[in-house]
Amino acid sequence: MSEPTGFGRPHRHLRRTDSTNERARGLVAAGAPSGTVVTADEQDAGRGRHGRRWSAPAGAALLYSAILRPLDARHRLLPLAVPLAVCEAIESLAPASCLVKWPNDVWVDERKAAGVLIEARPPDWAVIGVGINLSISPEEFPPDLRWPAASVGHGAEPDGARRALDAALGRWVEEGSERVVSEFERRDALRGRRLAWEGAGEPRDGSGVAAGIDEEGNLLVQAEDRRIALGAGEVRLVSLRQR
Ligand code: BTN
Repeated sequence: MSEPTGFGRPHRHLRRTDSTNERARGLVAAGAPSGTVVTADEQDAGRGRHGRRWSAPAGAALLYSAILRPLDARHRLLPLAVPLAVCEAIESLAPASCLVKWPNDVWVDERKAAGVLIEARPPDWAVIGVGINLSISPEEFPPDLRWPAASVGHGAEPDGARRALDAALGRWVEEGSERVVSEFERRDALRGRRLAWEGAGEPRDGSGVAAGIDEEGNLLVQAEDRRIALGAGEVRLVSLRQR
């Protein structure tokens, strides 16, 4: 039985870099141990999901990448476990109540406060990339964001956020799948909402009402008379509204 992962030992902080995920991948190649964390004040080429960019003013966000290696059956629901850890970390920093927009955006008051980008080569390693908006003012967010954004506020600063996330990730990455699914359902921002997707499922594009997740972490959508399971790696949600 392997040791549970403790995150943040070692920790490398960079003032400015291209992408903390890219730096962490370099450390993976150099043999860095599981639990290694890379943070930065600022990124020139921060990466988001679906090939998008992720940008934040220097020092106003937690820009965090952690190495997890090797991967095994316990990490099957890693993409769902990580945003649960982010929710706990945020709630320890501010009087906020977080929900998760499947698969791994973290919402505070209906706005995106954090995003997760996991890059992995199973079963060897994963780089868990997390960006948390801490003190970005509304006018500093890029105008072309797909979803409205928010900051944690309440004086939350990167070092405290890093320590909170190290601890929460340590608790969640090896949590059993039943508990991950039940906690995700408790924090599910989509359940009961009408949404449209593109890029996966049969038909490949469609719309329906979100109906929770299955034990594999797929999003269940009730579309007319059928229930469809959408895989996180393939699908992109393109619109969302109250039912
Ligand atoms: C998303 O919501 O699209 C995911 C955003 C993930 C951004 C973080 S910031 C730290 C880490 N380094 C990166 O280049 N990306 C992730």
